[in-house]
Amino acid sequence: MTARPADIVLVRGDITEQRVDVIVNAANSSLLGGGGVDGAIHRRGGPAILEDCRRLRASHYGKGLATGQAVATTAGLLHAGHVIHTVGPVWSREEDRAALLTSCYEQSLALARELGAETIAFPAISTGVYRWPLDNGADLAIAAARAHGGPTLKEIRFVLFDETAYRAFERALRG
Ligand code: APR
Repeated sequence: MTARPADIVLVRGDITEQRVDVIVNAANSSLLGGGGVDGAIHRRGGPAILEDCRRLRASHYGKGLATGQAVATTAGLLHAGHVIHTVGPVWSREEDRAALLTSCYEQSLALARELGAETIAFPAISTGVYRWPLDNGADLAIAAARAHGGPTLKEIRFVLFDETAYRAFERALRG
């Protein structure tokens, strides 16, 4: 019996309020927090998340987490089993970094599967401080979810913070 692909679901809201197995953080390579999604996750999730991030820095990620890679920590006070931190690429006119943004979704999905997750919530990675154009970011996110949703995940949820982002993902999902 072929496994059903994961449902791709769009939600307008705050990723820190999602009740899923994995919440994905749009982190930076330091893993030590920041603004946007990163700030909200650490604020709402509490200090246990940062303590785990510090342990990762002290053990395997002395130089920080590379762009396109993903690591898991506790979800602290959030309604999730884990937070997966991934570092999106900063938008560049000169260099095509699309593969790095795809890698963020792909690596996070693979790690979520390793953790036995059935539901995962993503933000629109790189489309904020990192200035990635929303339409292209949405296309890459939806394509990655379709290509790498894998057999064990039941729901891949994209949590969009504003109407513009929501509409961009709606269009990408219909496209
Ligand atoms: N829930 C869901 N989406 C959110 C939330 C939230 N609470 N807060 C912001 N967003 C949206 C933004 O509107 C944007 O569409 O998430 C998307 C990603 O924005 P950022 O959080 O700025 O992430 P990114 O563009 O990947 O930049 C990462 O920003 O916060 C710092 O430490 C972080 O240096 C890193 C950089």
